[in-house]
Amino acid sequence: MTDIFQFIKGLPKAELHLHIEGSLEPEMMFDMAHRNKVDIPFRTVDDVRSAYNFTNLQDFLDIYYAGANVLIEEEDFRDLAIAYFDRAAQDGVTHAEIFFDPQTHTDRGIPFDVVINGLLAGMAEAKTKHHISSKLILCFLRHLDENAAFKTFKTAEPWFDRIAGVGLDSSEMGHPPAKFARVFSAAGDAGLKRVAHAGEEGPPDYVHQALDLLHIDRLDHGNRALEDAHLMTRLAREAMTLTVCPLSNHKLRVVDDLSDHPLDRMLANGLRATINSDDPAYFGGYIGENYRAVAAARGLSRTVLAALARNSFLGSFLDDEEITENLKKLDSFLKNQ
Ligand code: HPA
Ligand code: ZN
Repeated sequence: MTDIFQFIKGLPKAELHLHIEGSLEPEMMFDMAHRNKVDIPFRTVDDVRSAYNFTNLQDFLDIYYAGANVLIEEEDFRDLAIAYFDRAAQDGVTHAEIFFDPQTHTDRGIPFDVVINGLLAGMAEAKTKHHISSKLILCFLRHLDENAAFKTFKTAEPWFDRIAGVGLDSSEMGHPPAKFARVFSAAGDAGLKRVAHAGEEGPPDYVHQALDLLHIDRLDHGNRALEDAHLMTRLAREAMTLTVCPLSNHKLRVVDDLSDHPLDRMLANGLRATINSDDPAYFGGYIGENYRAVAAARGLSRTVLAALARNSFLGSFLDDEEITENLKKLDSFLKNQ
């Protein structure tokens, strides 16, 4: 019988909610600031870490966007992606669907091609080096307007065969999903998958809007759906995958204490919940640490942890054959425990 942390490490799993810009560690931020001659408002790595004292989404986002300023060259985006995959490989990740925020970069004059070429190079390296498959999800920044999202959508068009879907992130309150209904409809017409952050800070109505107006294939966070019993029943009936991020929820005070985290309540209500890291460099841990922390805080059994890993493949945008292959790996791991 392996111990529970060994079990978590070995458990084959997919990560479905990871902002690649949120995996920028302070050390890498300093290296890139130096090599790109970008000023950052910190003197030491410890200064950076002590600035991570945010307790809500907006305060976090202000620091996250400032950190992203050091990303300039294609190799920066590649290095960022490779560092994430090196870390994910240690946590038993076999597949990752990663968010990127092109507007954060194009609005600073970094060409879209530089961003995506760098990320794709990192993803190709992850495949050969770690046998990790991956997909890209282009997120629109919801604090900007829908015209800006459309402009990004058009810029991305030549790359649609290398982008799995579109998402919606940044400041949730005051920026309801309805604001992006037309660009999400265009994305659906283009054959892209659709996901959206909803119900992290925003009310259950934002989750309704994401379902009814954005026609999402997956729900990012979704915690506040638990406040609406009808909505929970609907999410369960539709087998909607929720990409839940325990350490992020704790750091941004979506939950006051991890021991109150609703992850197992979601499962008990028939929701297809998964565990993810969101912005691991900012929230205190990668996917393995998210599994370990919530397992310890909630006393999750191996059966529950295995169900969460299974959900991560079922909720992925892999094709049926690839899902089956990953589930086989999971089952053979479980058989040997
Ligand atoms: N929520 C919303 N937008 C984000 C996040 C998040 O946790 N991380 C990066 N962009
Ligand atoms: Zn997120």
